[in-house]
Amino acid sequence: MVMFSVTRKETAPIDGQKPGTSGLRKKVKVFTQPNYLHNFVQSTFNALGAEKVRGATLVVSGDGRYYSKDAIQIITKMAAANGVRRIWIGQNGLLSTPAVSAVIRERVGADGSKATGAFILTASHNPGGPNEDFGIKYNMENGGPAPEGITDKIFENTKTIKEYLIAEDLPDVDILTIGLTSFAGPEGQFDVDVFDSASDYVKLMKSIFDFESIRKLLSSPKFTFCYDALHGVAGAYAKRIFVEELGAQESSLLNCTPKEDFGGGHPDPNLTYAKELVARMGLGKSSSGDEPPEFGAAADGDADRNMVLGKRFFVTPSDSVAIIAANAVESIPYFSAGLKGVARSMPTSAALDVVAKNLNLKFFEVPTGWKFFGNLMDAGLCSVCGEESFGTGSDHIREKDGIWAVLAWLSILAHKNKENLDGGNLVTVEDIVRKHWATYGRHYYTRYDYENVDAGAAKELMANLVKMQSSLSEVNDLVKGIRSDVSKVADADEFEYKDPVDGSVSKHQGIRYLFEDGSRLVFRLSGTGSEGATIRLYIEQYEKDPSKTGRDSQEALAPLVEVALKLSKMEELTGRSAPTVIT
Ligand code: G6P
Ligand code: ZN
Repeated sequence: MVMFSVTRKETAPIDGQKPGTSGLRKKVKVFTQPNYLHNFVQSTFNALGAEKVRGATLVVSGDGRYYSKDAIQIITKMAAANGVRRIWIGQNGLLSTPAVSAVIRERVGADGSKATGAFILTASHNPGGPNEDFGIKYNMENGGPAPEGITDKIFENTKTIKEYLIAEDLPDVDILTIGLTSFAGPEGQFDVDVFDSASDYVKLMKSIFDFESIRKLLSSPKFTFCYDALHGVAGAYAKRIFVEELGAQESSLLNCTPKEDFGGGHPDPNLTYAKELVARMGLGKSSSGDEPPEFGAAADGDADRNMVLGKRFFVTPSDSVAIIAANAVESIPYFSAGLKGVARSMPTSAALDVVAKNLNLKFFEVPTGWKFFGNLMDAGLCSVCGEESFGTGSDHIREKDGIWAVLAWLSILAHKNKENLDGGNLVTVEDIVRKHWATYGRHYYTRYDYENVDAGAAKELMANLVKMQSSLSEVNDLVKGIRSDVSKVADADEFEYKDPVDGSVSKHQGIRYLFEDGSRLVFRLSGTGSEGATIRLYIEQYEKDPSKTGRDSQEALAPLVEVALKLSKMEELTGRSAPTVIT
């Protein structure tokens, strides 16, 4: 057995290591500064405390973006030096964020070991490459992101750190080959276990969904399918699940080879960045003219996000979670005993609220950030949840899950088409959505993103919107002056959340303007960017009349959009006459 020793290295605090909504995300150039990653990792070990680190089994992997391979070697050497007993690594360093969550919760090592945490190496939907983003976040024993108590401690530690521990003489581990390697340290054995990235996750998906019925759908000549991994880690799962397990054509996979720089693209599954898929689905201007597939979906870099499309049809993420919740019990075996409850983030449309009300389900509205759902799930209060930011998931793990969402949709389609695959007309994605609107009403919804805005200007815009909330009559005078066809503002506040499980309170979670007719305007600053500020504007309008649910969304929302832009002085303060992305 190769031996290693432990070295204590002197270091000094580095500014700006505060983890955001989903860990620490910075440019690769920032991460590769001397001791930058080391300081953060040691601060994490110190925050967890010796009893959670010594003898532990930890997962280290991610979406495969640039700098991941180096980071895995550094973290492995530091883990060995800090007394960790085993490191589990997905082959090639690849594990999607949902797969990490599944591995923590489900995987049992050959010696019966279970993991108690993970370093996930990803900056999610942000671009990758030497000049782009890298990221790291820590997940806990339940498979979910570390709570604020821990991330605050990590940040505090980064401000006082003086030394870190590293096994400098531990040889680099071979992450390309599956297998177990053992080393001998001053305090005993240290194992590095490189395992297949997909098996545990595939096994979990097979225990949730009826693969046989999805296979029938996917292999029917009537049903055509397309999946775009945007060169993210979802590619490592797509072939195994959609092609090998479910019988989809290999040609239905787009960009399914994981790349360190995501092929130079922006691995965010939305109508702007998933260009190829959007064109193939017959949406947008660059449609190829070929008959589009019946179903299309995309994932982000670490495969926790999803976008679902029908033929020439976009499903908003807010509608998607509502439709999954409405159909889960009859279409997905995992939910056959009923849903414990459902939840959405505040800026997500109220489509889910209507389903919850109709089906008499427990319902929760939480701040943006998946960790808030995790608490509800751990307490057995929530089965299905989702966010407008292309995140959908369930209590099978403690992260949102891009491939799960696709399988949920395929299950619904398989169920609705059980009798139609041999004869009869296919019930399409669009049919399902329109029928849902006719039953529950439609929440017209759009999000405007202003990326990389001057941080000062963004702050001023937000402060202004808060200040205006103190006089609703003045707000209403302004609104009336902008558009007389928009209803009155009935209430305005900053969203605040008291967690029903642990009682913690989260303030300033987004600025809301709530209108008498149920329309909403929400303004928030993104917590996931790595440069400047990103302003998000969420616009929503409810239409209950079934004869009016078929309008073009941008057209239906135009009056509210105009009010939002003028009320917030968007152009005046940011200099932007148009958003960077509209979804
Ligand atoms: C991550 C989190 C999501 C959250 C999103 C918000 O993806 O996992 O739960 O909705 O960030 O991003 P934003 O950029 O709007 O803060
Ligand atoms: Zn992601």
